[in-house]
Amino acid sequence: MTTQDDPQGLLARMTLEEKIGQLNLLAAGEGLTTGAETSTPLAKRLDAGEVGAIFGTKSRASTRAMQERAIAGSRLGIPLFFAEDVIHGHRTIFPLNIAQACSWDMELIRACAAFSAEEASSEGLHQVYAPMIDISRDPRWGRVAEGPGEDPYLASCIAEAMTRGLQENNGGRVSACLKHFVAYGATQSGRDYDNATMAWEDLLDIYLPPFEAGVRAGAEGVMASFNAVNKMPMHAHEPLIEGWLRGTAGFDGLVVSDYTGVKELTAHGIGTPEMVVARALHAGIDMDMVGEDYLRHLPGLAENGLDAPQIGLSISAETIRGLIDRACLRVLKFKALQGLFEDPFKGMDPLAPTPNRKAGRALARKAAAGSCVLLKNNHLLPLKPGQKVALIGPLGSDRANMLGTWSVSGDARDVVSLEDALRSQNWAALTTAVGANLVREKWMVDRLNVHGVTVTPDPRDEAELLREAKAAAEAADVVILAIGEAKEHAGESSSRLCPDLPEPQRRLVAELAAGCTPVVAVVFAGRPLALGQVPEQVDALLYAWHGGVAGPEGVTDILTGAAEPTGKLAVTLPVHPGETPLSYATEPTGRPFPGHFQKFLTGWLDLDDSAVPASYPFGFGLTYGHVDYSDVVADVPGGGEDGMAEVHVDITNTSERAVTETVQLYISDPEAQITRPGRLLKDFRRVPVAPGSTKRVTFEITPEMLSYHVAPSLAEARKVWDPGRIVVHVGPDSRATKSVEITWGA
Ligand code: BGC
Repeated sequence: MTTQDDPQGLLARMTLEEKIGQLNLLAAGEGLTTGAETSTPLAKRLDAGEVGAIFGTKSRASTRAMQERAIAGSRLGIPLFFAEDVIHGHRTIFPLNIAQACSWDMELIRACAAFSAEEASSEGLHQVYAPMIDISRDPRWGRVAEGPGEDPYLASCIAEAMTRGLQENNGGRVSACLKHFVAYGATQSGRDYDNATMAWEDLLDIYLPPFEAGVRAGAEGVMASFNAVNKMPMHAHEPLIEGWLRGTAGFDGLVVSDYTGVKELTAHGIGTPEMVVARALHAGIDMDMVGEDYLRHLPGLAENGLDAPQIGLSISAETIRGLIDRACLRVLKFKALQGLFEDPFKGMDPLAPTPNRKAGRALARKAAAGSCVLLKNNHLLPLKPGQKVALIGPLGSDRANMLGTWSVSGDARDVVSLEDALRSQNWAALTTAVGANLVREKWMVDRLNVHGVTVTPDPRDEAELLREAKAAAEAADVVILAIGEAKEHAGESSSRLCPDLPEPQRRLVAELAAGCTPVVAVVFAGRPLALGQVPEQVDALLYAWHGGVAGPEGVTDILTGAAEPTGKLAVTLPVHPGETPLSYATEPTGRPFPGHFQKFLTGWLDLDDSAVPASYPFGFGLTYGHVDYSDVVADVPGGGEDGMAEVHVDITNTSERAVTETVQLYISDPEAQITRPGRLLKDFRRVPVAPGSTKRVTFEITPEMLSYHVAPSLAEARKVWDPGRIVVHVGPDSRATKSVEITWGA
């Protein structure tokens, strides 16, 4: 026990230096070397009481050693808290977040988060830098892999489910840190770290709602994003952090910077190192990750204040000291909330049992199958036992890439490759061939191998690889084509100019499709790829993302029919990379796209009309069964005067397989105060329907669903809704809907 005080009492006993030390958030890096003479940079900081928290520890023993050292180095015995990037799993890696989003299964997503929390807390971690809830509509941006997709409503449901899963105490909990605040996924040109400029309405109605949902679910932390929003870098964005996040959304936890995010304000061009420290602290960044600029500049600022008339900024020393107190108190409260003053060594006993990995693996396999999206199926799937299978493609025997980006504590040895998963099935024969290298360029291979080698090109030339693949295909009843991206094609700093299937793989698909053996393409990727001609060329198409430790086993379950496909796209798949950014929820123009090129109407001159119907919209995904939708029927009691309405549809399973159908509700507001998205997802239900049976699905329509912001500026933002005519659409995806018009509340 380090102190008897509550955080406020503790703060009162701290020196200025001790307070500033609490705001310093460091990476474990090389950690501590054991032995009496240790003096790594980290050890020196710990001995001087100059660290508040550490992220990225690798073992219970090293975590414990750091904690012991920190407590000994702190006059008041204040413990550290430990954080980690547990983005889609800790040791047990679940499917990428974008993949999990495609399950539309909040219970599953919550369960994956809860298991991750159990694993993380059993290793002495208190906070995880998750959920990552950046909406993105740009497939070029590599971090689309970590996020919940393109839609604010679906993303808000996910933010809530993950936050609850991480923070629930079911065998171990950790504190959630919502990131990246905010609009990081709206980066210009899809280029990571670039800035975002948008209408305030878009910020309020697209990018902020998932944060609001995460805060409502009780998230205890938020991380600021690297980008600027409407000209102000987020690490200095007082109106959004102290104003919107703490004020409007009611957040009461800890705000951390992103990695050297405070320092980078200088590169953004908004001041000297000293100036930007004052700006970040004033904006509400409580802890400074890695850069150590708070440690360096706050002592001087606390003594002299800041006078920067050239940018109209003057902050007194007293104000700075008050801001240091504010941030330090938030750190202390956070530590108290994690129970650190009672037990600073929780989870750090090297001999304590670890969570049941077998249960985690079973959950990961279920999540992997649930995340796959079946895009096309010409009566080929599920495969039949006894078929002769040719598994072709650069990812057929892969393990490391299957983990996906941001799997820092994962282990590729835990992955069962698609080849091994398929071998355990009852085929007449299974042959394999590489078919093509993942990418052609040597420099690209080097970039993809930045975090360890996951891409090893086959040294044979392309023609030879193709010859071997075609021979394997000809001798088989069916080809399973394992194609896509490497794990480091996506993730941080992995923006792609051209987010398509790399060239050698496109040639492989075309060559095999020209043969007589039917082809099932399985796409493993970290982003929604522009698939070009691939959907027309192949007979069946399964979008499997990077599915984590049990990704290929989940795919095998779908291919064999052991699991039913239920996934629906959480992002629109572009046909061509040049369409990006894109979303189903665009605002209508006065000259709408008619579905094919027409001069003087919205569209692309050089997009082949025949490719357009092959595009896959948000919400799309097939099952192995078939469901018919009735017309949508509206019930508006009393003419909707009370702001109450309901719509329902009957869905009938006309197939012989059980189906879980995700019924989606979209709303349009054709007479709004400003131009609004053509339609927006407002609700959905996952409905199991037995063969031959019918289920009624009823949705309530509320004024809240119809409300939106009008915001000439952030300060003038107001929420409105328009009584009168609305159009309600219900269907299996964002395009194939049936509609009903209602007038209500007018
Ligand atoms: C990323 C964050 C991450 C942090 C710590 C940064 O580069 O943007 O998402 O949490 O590093 O690893």
